[in-house]
Parts: sequence; C-alpha cells; structure tokens
Amino acid sequence: MTQEELFKILVAHCKEYGFIFPSSEIYDGLGAVYDYGQMGVELKNNIKQYWWNAMTRLNENIVGIDSCIFMHPKIWEASGHVGAFNDPLIDNKDSKKRYRADVLIEDFLGKIEEKINKEVQKGRKKFGEGFDEAQFRATNPNVLREQAKYDQVHGRFLKAQQENDFAEYRQIIIDCNIVCPISGTCNWTEVRQFNLMFSTSIGSTSDGASTIYLRPETAQGIFVNYLNVQKTGRMKIPFGIAQIGKAFRNEIVARQFIFRMREFEQMEMQFFIKPGTELEWFKKWKENRMKWHVNLGMGAENYRFHDHEKLAHYANAATDIEFNFPFGFKELEGIHSRTNFDLGNHQKFSGKKIEYFDPEENKSYTPFVVETSIGVDRMVLAVLSHAYKEETLDNGETRVVLSIPAPLAPVKAAVLPLVKKDGLPELAQKIMDDLKYDFNCQYEEKDSIGKRYRRQDAIGTPFCITVDHDSLNDGCVTIRHRDSMEQARVKIEDLRSIIDKEVNLNNLLRNL
Ligand code: GAP
Repeated sequence: MTQEELFKILVAHCKEYGFIFPSSEIYDGLGAVYDYGQMGVELKNNIKQYWWNAMTRLNENIVGIDSCIFMHPKIWEASGHVGAFNDPLIDNKDSKKRYRADVLIEDFLGKIEEKINKEVQKGRKKFGEGFDEAQFRATNPNVLREQAKYDQVHGRFLKAQQENDFAEYRQIIIDCNIVCPISGTCNWTEVRQFNLMFSTSIGSTSDGASTIYLRPETAQGIFVNYLNVQKTGRMKIPFGIAQIGKAFRNEIVARQFIFRMREFEQMEMQFFIKPGTELEWFKKWKENRMKWHVNLGMGAENYRFHDHEKLAHYANAATDIEFNFPFGFKELEGIHSRTNFDLGNHQKFSGKKIEYFDPEENKSYTPFVVETSIGVDRMVLAVLSHAYKEETLDNGETRVVLSIPAPLAPVKAAVLPLVKKDGLPELAQKIMDDLKYDFNCQYEEKDSIGKRYRRQDAIGTPFCITVDHDSLNDGCVTIRHRDSMEQARVKIEDLRSIIDKEVNLNNLLRNL
C-alpha cells in the first residue's frame, strides 16, 4: 500500500470512529474546514493540556492568557499582516484551478528528493551492511544527476523568494514543466499576490462600521497584552506568555486533510527577553520544543529541524520542527526569533510606550521575543498518522489499532462485562463508576468481547477491563493492553494504579 492510499484510509478511519468530520457535511462540506467528533475532541484536549502544562506549570516564568479573535484593525497593520501576509498564486488557464506557486515548486523539489532517497534505499539493499551512504551519494550517477537538478532549481527558487521575484516563480514552473494535476497542461497565468486574512465588519453597516479581520495568528493577542500581563503579574524578563486559540487563514492550497485548514487552532508562546540574548534563547527553545515532541515516544527519527533560508518579515532567525507525515516531512511547529518587531510596531501604531525597565541594567528597552508556535490540528494529525496500524495477528485475523501515546488517548479504559446477564453488567458498572472520576472510560456490553476489543483498538484505548463470572467471586478482572494485547488477571482495587501509571499526563511531564 502506498503512503497516499494509507493516508486516504486514515482519513476515512477518522470519520468512521468519530475523530474528525468534514464541516457542514450534510451540505456537501466546506473546503478545508473540519469538525472534531467525540473522540477527536478528547485527543485534541489532551494535546492542549500536555502543551499548556508543559509551558505554564513547568516554567515558573510563563503564564497563560486567552485573548479575543476580534482585535483592533490597526493591529494587523502594525504586525505587517495587511501589507505582507500574502501567498503567491498562479492559475492554470485550462482547468481554471488556482495553486500556490511556491508550493508547486516545493512539491517538485520534494519529488526529486524522493527519487534520490529511493536510489539510496536501493543501494542500501544491494550493498547490505557495508553500505556507505555518503560515498554512494557522492558517486552514484543517478543520484548525482538528480542532485544537480535539485540544486539548480532550489538555487533559483531561493533567490526568487529572497527577491520576491514572482515572474521568476512562473519561469521556474515553466522551465521545470510543472503541470496542473487536473488539466495536465503547463498553461499558467502570471503569479499574483493574495492576502490570507478573512475580513468582516464590526458595528452597524450604515454608520461607522469598520472592517476587522479574523486573526491569522494568536501571537498578536499576546503582544498587545504584554504590558497588562507584565505589570499585573509583576513579571521580570525573561518571561513568557502562552495562549491557545483559533486562527483563520484563507488558504488557497487547501488539502492534506487537517494539515492546512482555513480555521485552525494554534498554541503559541512569546518569550520576552533582553535584546542581544535572542539567539541564545532561540537555541534553548529549539531544544526545549524538540524534547517535548520526542518525549511522546513517536520516534526521534520522525522529527527534524528545517532552518529557514527566507525569513518572515519579523524574524532574524527561524526554524521549523518538521514531522514525518504520510506525505513526507512537513512543518509541525515554528520557532522564530521575532526581534522587537512586533512590540516596536505596536508602540509606533498605538502611540503607547511599550518598554521594560530592567532593574539589573538600570535602563528601559523594548524587549525582544522568541516565539514557539504549533498548530493543534497538525499535532492531532501527527499523532493519528503515526498511531494508525493494520496488523495481522497470529491467528491470521487482522486488526486496526491506534497506538496513540497513552496519556493522549481519548478513552483510557473500556469496562466490558463478558455477558449481559448474571450480575456482570452491575459489577462492570460499579467499576466504571469508580474509575470515571480519574479517567475517561467507556462502558460497553454489546457484541462479542472480540468485537468490542477491536472497536477499542480502533479508537486507541490503552486498556480493556473484562468482567467475567469469576470476578463475582474472586474480585479480579482481566486487563488487556492495547499494543501487546497481553492479558493479566488483576484485583479490581488495583485497577486505578495500573491504569494511572501509563496514562497519567504528569508522568510525561516529569520526563521533560
Ligand atoms: N505566530 C507565528 C505563526 O503563526 P506560522 O508558521 O504561520 O507562524 C505556526 O504558523 C503554526 O501554525 C504552523 O507550524 C502550523 O502548525 C500551524 N498552522 C499554520 N497555518 C495552518 C493552517 N492553515 N492549518 C493548520 N495549521 C496551520
């Protein structure tokens, strides 16, 4: 099965088991907008809690806020979003489909990279243990040819990005014969700039209504509250402000499920620091955030840094943490050294002084900022795509299991009476009533025990607890582990501590 086929199956699985639904589905959906179902919302909340607690509890100098989506329109002029938050778009004249020119080129480069990696894999297979990858890359004619093509296009693309040369974007697309996937032709329009912000109006339409924007990032809500938090919280630099909230972007290339949405959620933290210390803090936050990811146990090899060659208008250093999604390594989180661009501009546009008096330095300055910014939905996709597995069991049967890190799993334990009679449901319900204060549990009595196990595997429940006739006499139940499928007989009174050991979020946090 190709990664693409597997991804389609994952999307269908997310719908079938109540994780993610296309928005407004009974009206044929709305592009790049998705709703979270009963399982999805639990997973999402657990991810948010892991992030929030890691930020605000483990760091005594980081506090949280919750600012509004609607903000004064001048904020977006100050932040540069009105002028510079644009995507370069290109239309295919035959299919009338619109694309992001930079994404077309990036995908083209990605395909070359894939070809090179396939050659390397072949080499590894052929030469076995003594395979020297560096030497192979330096000498294999196929790899060298593809690498030269990559370097040439990549070099042109970088220069075009740095110079905002959109005519060159188009020329690269034509020279590389990048065709529209729908029409198959290379009949392209010019590249045009398109602002990503959604706008609406506030106030009465006839008199005094003004255009406002749905925020395209949560960060600005933090910047404009900097003084409030610093003063009321008596915060001393260095300190951080964290926020989780919705953001909106009128994405043109809306695909890959919840990877690129028009309405999505961000978890952002702005860390306010002394000017001149930003690169040191940038390094620290890179390490800190990578640790947070790897701590989930989804394989360190599935993450990598991608340092930005083209910096955003506000940054003097930037990197992405990329995750190995089913469609390749793509951005999961951004870490940016934003200098004093935002606070400085808000000072200019609002006319209010935004400075910090540093008692150690005995002087005032506008703080610099290092930001960490991760999309909740991308994190959900990373977790689900890594978790999804189709396994063949010893008896030849197959099962689909979501090996979600246990502390993030939507349901932690399922309580299952073996049969629907003889007092077993009553005992199972009692166990459920006891456990439900500590864990999100499900009680299920319909269908055979095997079918119930499969259903729980498919939503990633780490533990199934089966109550049988012996349980009535010996006070014990069978506990089954999702990943190993091993079963053990345990005392009912020990259930809470057995489950807690694996699912308690604090155990994850303690490892950070
Ligand atoms: N405040 C900085 C900022 O917003 P960004 O790189 O544009 O930076 C940060 O976005 C993160 O937000 C990304 O790494 C990604 O996880 C998430 N994100 C951005 N656009 C998104 C979209 N259209 N759909 C889902 N997540 C998105």
